[in-house]
Amino acid sequence: MSAAIITHNLTRRFGDKIAVDGLTLEVRVGEVFGFLGHNGAGKTTTVRLLNGVLEPHAGKAYVLGLDPLADGPALRARTGVLTESAALDARLSGRENLLVYADLFGVPQRQSDSRVSELLDFFGLSDSADLKVAAYSTGMRQRLALARTLLHDPELLFLDEPTAGLDPLAARQTHRLIAALARQKGRTVFLCTHNLVEAQRLCDRVGVMERGRLVAVGTPTELAARYVQQVQVEIEIAAEHIEAAIELLSHASGLLTARPQPSADQAPGGPLGALSLRVTGREAIPDMLALLTRHGVRVYRLTPHEPSLEDVYFALHAGAAEPSQQEHTR
Ligand SMILES: Nc1ncnc2c1ncn2[C@@H]1O[C@H](COP(=O)(O)OP(=O)(O)O)[C@@H](O)[C@H]1O
Ligand SMILES: [Mg+2]
Repeated sequence: MSAAIITHNLTRRFGDKIAVDGLTLEVRVGEVFGFLGHNGAGKTTTVRLLNGVLEPHAGKAYVLGLDPLADGPALRARTGVLTESAALDARLSGRENLLVYADLFGVPQRQSDSRVSELLDFFGLSDSADLKVAAYSTGMRQRLALARTLLHDPELLFLDEPTAGLDPLAARQTHRLIAALARQKGRTVFLCTHNLVEAQRLCDRVGVMERGRLVAVGTPTELAARYVQQVQVEIEIAAEHIEAAIELLSHASGLLTARPQPSADQAPGGPLGALSLRVTGREAIPDMLALLTRHGVRVYRLTPHEPSLEDVYFALHAGAAEPSQQEHTR
């Protein structure tokens, strides 16, 4: 079986509020799957449904081939969950925290010492292993919490906002560790986040949740191709040609906007100028370049910007905010 998680029409309400609305999703073994969405989109509720902590009102879920409700204990023995507010015991040392949990997770006693040391090492906590957690920074606590989810060597990890509240340096360190877990140790990761840079950096595929509904799924590149209809292109030409270039490009097909940009660089023949273009797609670029060249405008540099997940996210939300451009029949 190559699916780690399969859900079909998974639905959960709280009162008359629908938190997860007909979620149908497949997460593959070995991938880092990003589950994106604003606060309140339904990410944490989904994780709880997938772990059998919460009962669905409709639909089914299979996680590692098991039914989370019927096979909860068997499933939890094979999954690790980092919840949004992972509680550690601040009165105990980092090592003691892990040993207590190793015991709780049923790691055999003769293995737990070496397992704990190995994890402390992997997470860069060996030097502070015997300090009380009360003295740990937020980043260290989060790394310890992450280490704790791995004690029983789970195949599938659920990480719910693993870098929320971390400073950029600690967040980056956590990113490296998550990437290492996935790539070197081949674990499947279900990563909930509202941090798009994090998702772009770590995820093989992402799903975007909006008010309980899954509105898009794919690799970041697929989503960009599907939802971002514009490409931003920066070009550098001789400063004296800027006006002429804007005039020429205004007749080119595919141009949306052209704006002059400041540029401090020098070309052999004089000062360089820069233009920032928005075009309808990459296929518009070669003709524009040819047009400029044909009219004696020498192009020193041309840089198309790959659309990011952030662009995808805003494209999806622009659709929701501008019903006049979309069919909105709901
Ligand atoms: N235990 C609960 N009781 C009532 N409402 C809840 C509960 N858990 C979540 N919700 C509601 O369900 C929606 C989805 O929440 P959640 O899954 O926590 O979103 P996310 O993790 O994406 O921020 C929100 O509107 C939230 O207020
Ligand atoms: Mg949440």
